Amino acid sequence: MAKAIGTFPYYGGKQRLCKRIAEFIPQGVVSITDACGGSAKLILNCRYAPRMVYNDLNPAMAALMTCIKDRHLFGEFLKRVETEPYSETTFERARVVLAGQRTGGRYTQLELGVAKYQGLCMSFNSTMESYAKPDEKKLRSYRERLYGSLQDAHFHMDDYDIQVTCRDAIDIMAESGPEDMVLLDVPYLAGPNEERRKTGAYGAYDWGRDLHEKFLDRANQTAGKVLICGYESRLYAERLKPDRWLKVDLGEVAKVSARSKLGESKPRVHEIVWVNYEPPAKVIRKFTNSQFSKNV
Ligand SMILES: C[S@@+](CC[C@H](N)C(=O)[O-])C[C@H]1O[C@@H](n2cnc3c(N)ncnc32)[C@H](O)[C@@H]1O
Repeated sequence: MAKAIGTFPYYGGKQRLCKRIAEFIPQGVVSITDACGGSAKLILNCRYAPRMVYNDLNPAMAALMTCIKDRHLFGEFLKRVETEPYSETTFERARVVLAGQRTGGRYTQLELGVAKYQGLCMSFNSTMESYAKPDEKKLRSYRERLYGSLQDAHFHMDDYDIQVTCRDAIDIMAESGPEDMVLLDVPYLAGPNEERRKTGAYGAYDWGRDLHEKFLDRANQTAGKVLICGYESRLYAERLKPDRWLKVDLGEVAKVSARSKLGESKPRVHEIVWVNYEPPAKVIRKFTNSQFSKNV
């Protein structure tokens, strides 16, 4: 299998799973929307459709992906990232821009995209919380990424004409029709009785239980083809009924964020996919009955 197209490190990024998830997309859909796009690993690694969209509600993420897609902006983006060194000063400056944007400050797409990129690449586990001091290896991959994976992503977005939008994924899902495919790698549900105790690293874009409930209600009403990625939970098992949803356990997957700051490994969790349509036959063959399960 060819190597997956990457972009930049991202908390919850699907670098290792994107190819497997892409196999669930049926042929013949008129559109594919990666509605909670993050670092775009899903949309960059799935089959072609006449309309392809990367979406993220966080304006800084949409700005960053616009910088990677747009021919003119991409050149400017590379120049800016090359001239501003990997350093704590650059990291803190990036955080000031992002905080300013959140409180109503106005920035260009380039300013916002560069700041988000620097913040993600220079923080521990891409959480934007604390500066990650680089070693030789990290510095090398920081430099090489610009003319390696980011270039690949840029040309792929151009070739496939992947559009960038900044909308609420729940609205996109609600509007979709039977020929539209919507990928929903939503922020996970966290809580004392869930697989994950703490919420993710998406700040204002993390989801509480209420939002998950609203999302699941809408998911049951949409006419579109929907693929949800996430972790097992009682709420999802209750709401995504087996007469309408097929649940597939992709197994335990090592994650980029599987190590804590102190170097301890965190418990692994199973990645689950739910689909409300019949996936391609080869996926049905590949995942044996033991991995298909009923939500009861
Ligand atoms: C689990 S991450 C997606 C990771 C992505 N698949 C990747 O490979 O990098 C979830 C993303 O959803 C975005 N998000 C949160 N709420 C959203 C909403 N209501 N609509 C669209 N995007 C949203 C977050 O900003 C975050 O980037």
